[in-house]
Amino acid sequence: MRRDVPWRGARHGVNREVEAMSLDNAITGTLARRLRLGMVGGGHGAYIGGIHRYAARLDGQYELVAGAFDVDPEKGKAFAAEVFIDSGRSYGDYQEMIEAERQRADRIDVVAICTPNHTHFPIAAAFLQAGFDVICEKPLTTTQEDAVKLVQIAGETGRFLGVTYTYSGYPLVHEARAMVAAGKIGKVRVVQVEYPLEWMATAIEQGGNQQASWRTDPKRSGRGGSIGDIGTHAYHLAGFVTGLKLESLCADLATFVGGRVLDDNAHVMLRYEGGARGLLWSSQVAIGSSNGIRLRVFGETGSLSWFQEEPNVLVHAPLNGHPVTIKRANAASGTGAQARTRTPPGHPEGYIEAFANLYGGFAEVIRAGREGRDPGPIGQAVPAGYDGLKGVAFVDAVVDSHEAGQMGWVKPAYV
Ligand code: NAI
Repeated sequence: MRRDVPWRGARHGVNREVEAMSLDNAITGTLARRLRLGMVGGGHGAYIGGIHRYAARLDGQYELVAGAFDVDPEKGKAFAAEVFIDSGRSYGDYQEMIEAERQRADRIDVVAICTPNHTHFPIAAAFLQAGFDVICEKPLTTTQEDAVKLVQIAGETGRFLGVTYTYSGYPLVHEARAMVAAGKIGKVRVVQVEYPLEWMATAIEQGGNQQASWRTDPKRSGRGGSIGDIGTHAYHLAGFVTGLKLESLCADLATFVGGRVLDDNAHVMLRYEGGARGLLWSSQVAIGSSNGIRLRVFGETGSLSWFQEEPNVLVHAPLNGHPVTIKRANAASGTGAQARTRTPPGHPEGYIEAFANLYGGFAEVIRAGREGRDPGPIGQAVPAGYDGLKGVAFVDAVVDSHEAGQMGWVKPAYV
């Protein structure tokens, strides 16, 4: 049976060439059940895998049924038992998982890849090629070449490749996006976005910190340090809200902590198509900051400001007017924000809910893919392969710019 799903091609930039693709190998029909989720990585002592599990659980759309949770097979299996995975579906590695799952009538529908950056490409490519949909962590890959290949593989196989740019899951980020699109702040002039963190202000990788050790190793992290790890989130958030496309950038990277080779602080000047200017700051040495991703967008008639540590509030300042506080779940919220809200205003929602909104969108896309229909607005707004590729290309451009060192630095005559 052949079904053409134009949306799949249209959504993912590079895949535009494959506007209508065959789903010959797809499981078709209505999926009137929870999606069967597998996971790679995310075992004991890992960070993001646990967040994926919470997020996948929140709306009851998924059931975690299989996994290869650790680079060490024994540890992975011990962890699987603790999270009540059937021992027959707890695998020593991802290849074994693919081989076994593809034989099953109740095979997983989708896999979440929660491993360090350098493993994303081989794992995601193998699952896509075996016919599974994929939810992959960011940065999508460690090289642009691999990111292009991965997006192409998703296009060719007709499988979905989602990327977890977490902050685009927040209801008020959607509200901001809708407000910019509706012209509430006029044409965008200036974008200020920052993602400062404190946790790597000292050489914790030398003391054996698991997360810091691979993040500071170019072989496992890629060319970017802070810029790849958190700068990519900031870059995606700015583009997601403003809809602006980057024209060019100019970067200054710094490595403050001795013994590191990758940046732990990045300043990037941005020039957007249409004339808007931006400044992006990512830092792993910003003492006092904890996941303080913040976006401010200034237009011709107003501005918007959102800060993830207070994610239930968006500030809109109209020209010559009082700044207005927009609250999550307010009756005046737009449909995009309302659709991603679970509790009444005043009951805080946060990171897990935002992540769950991504999972909700991914579920929509996966179901729509199986059923040969358009995923609708919730599914269409999720970050996908091409967004991941843009993030990897951004890191490359930042590092290239820094290494070229042609910023036209001028020292004032008196300092
Ligand atoms: P981590 O070091 O805490 O966990 C990595 C896990 O992957 C460990 O359980 C490890 O044993 C496992 N692993 C490594 N290679 C494996 C393999 N070949 N097969 C199976 N398991 C394997 O790392 P963390 O901080 O959880 O980051 C993982 C990924 O998530 C990274 O790409 C990172 O950039 C991304 N991330 C995304 C965030 C977001 O907000 N979307 C936040 C934090 C991390």
